[in-house]
Amino acid sequence: MDSVRIGLLGCGTVGTQVARLLHEQEDDLAARAGARLSLVGIAVRNVQAPRDPVIDRALLTADARALIAQSDIVIELIGGIEPARTYILDAFAHGASVVTGNKALLAAHGPELYDAAAAANVDLYYEAAVAGAVPVVYGLRESLTGDRITAVLGIVNGTTNYILDEMTTRGLSFDQALADAQRLGYAEADPSADVDGLDAAAKCAILASLAFHSRVSLDDVHVHGIRNITADDIASATRHGYVVKLVATARRRRRGIEAHVGPTLVPRNHPLAGVHGPFNAIVVEAEAADRLMFYGRGAGGAPTASAVLSDVVAAASHKVSGGHAPRELIYADLPVLSPDQSESRFQVEVDVEDTIGVLTKVASVFARHDVSISSVWQDAEEKVVDATGMPVCRLTVTTHVANQADLEATMEELDESPFVSGVRHVIRVEES
Ligand code: HSE
Repeated sequence: MDSVRIGLLGCGTVGTQVARLLHEQEDDLAARAGARLSLVGIAVRNVQAPRDPVIDRALLTADARALIAQSDIVIELIGGIEPARTYILDAFAHGASVVTGNKALLAAHGPELYDAAAAANVDLYYEAAVAGAVPVVYGLRESLTGDRITAVLGIVNGTTNYILDEMTTRGLSFDQALADAQRLGYAEADPSADVDGLDAAAKCAILASLAFHSRVSLDDVHVHGIRNITADDIASATRHGYVVKLVATARRRRRGIEAHVGPTLVPRNHPLAGVHGPFNAIVVEAEAADRLMFYGRGAGGAPTASAVLSDVVAAASHKVSGGHAPRELIYADLPVLSPDQSESRFQVEVDVEDTIGVLTKVASVFARHDVSISSVWQDAEEKVVDATGMPVCRLTVTTHVANQADLEATMEELDESPFVSGVRHVIRVEES
C-alpha cells in the first residue's frame, strides 16, 4: 500500500489544523505510518464559506457520504450526535477506520460504535475526545493495561478551569470570569456544556470505561457544574488551604464504580491544585504504578490536531502492516454506583446561633447519621447577624470519608434544627 486515503469530516478549528499538519508534516507522517497519508477530501456543510488559506479549496465537498466511500480512514470532527453517528457507522460499513474527537457521541453511543468497529475489523480511535493533546486515552488503554487502576481524577475542561483559576487568582466573580473566558474564545456564547459540567461528564464516562473495563455512559455520571460557586466560596477555600477545581472522578469502590463531576476542594499541595488557566490534567492512581499525572492543553486547534494525527498514524500503520487498535474491553462489567452510594470527604458551611454548647448539638447531628468529623473551624472574625438579629457564627466542618446519603441526611436535619440559621454549601474534598 503506497498511500492511505484520508477523508476529513469537518473543517473548524481542529479540522483546519489537521489538514495543515497532514500537509506540512507529510514526509515524517509517511515514514511513521509506512505509507503516504493522502487527504482526499474535506466534507463541510458550506463549501463557499471563507476558510483559512492553508485549506486547499479543491478538496472541499458537501457530499460526506461520497467522501466516506472513497476513504481508508475517516476523521470525524463535526461533533454532536447526528449526522456524526451515521457517518461513522457508514465508514465502518465501507471498511474504513475512524478517528474521532467526539466525546458526546462516545459517551452516549460508544457501545454501538465499538461493536460496529470490531464487527468490521477496523479501528476506532478517539484520543482527541478527552483532554485534547494529553495522551490519556492511550495511557489508560495501552500504557497501563498491565496494571490495576483504582482512581482517575481529572481536570478535563479547560474553560471551567480557566474560570475557577481567574476567580482564585484575581478575585473575579463567576460572571466576570465567564465573560473573560468568552472574550478569549475558551467559552462558547452558550457556555452550558462547559459550566454545567456536561463536557467533563462525557469525558469522565470515557475515562471510567477505560480504567475499569466496564461500560460507563454519560447517564451514569453524577454531574454538578460551577455556576453556583461564589467569590465567597473561593475565599473560604483559600483560607482553609484548598483550591476549588471542577474534578471528574472515577473511582473503584468495593461495590462498583463511582463516577461524578463537580466542584471539589483540592488541597493546595495536590498535583491538580497547580493546574492553571485552560490547562487539563488527569491523575491516575494504579496499584503497581502508584500515582501518575498527565498534563497539557485540553483544547485548541493545533493541540487537538496533535492527538488526532497520532491516531491517524496508528490507524494507517494497521492498514499498511496489519493489526488493529485495542478493542473495547468490558470484561470486568462492574456496576456503576448511584450517587447515594458514593463516598467522599465533604466540607459543609453552617451558620449556627452563637451560644454555649452549640458545637455539641452540631456534632451530635453528624454522629446520629454516622458521619465522622475531621475538623471544625469557627470563624471568630466573621460574626454575622441573621434576619432576626440573632448573632450567628459560621462553622466550617470537614468530614472524614462519608457516604453521600448519610451526609445529605445530616444536612437535612441541620437545616431543620432551631440552632441553625443556614446551611451555606456542601462541597467534596479531595485527599492530598
Ligand atoms: N470545551 C472544552 C474545554 C474543550 O473547555 O475544555 C472541548 O471538549
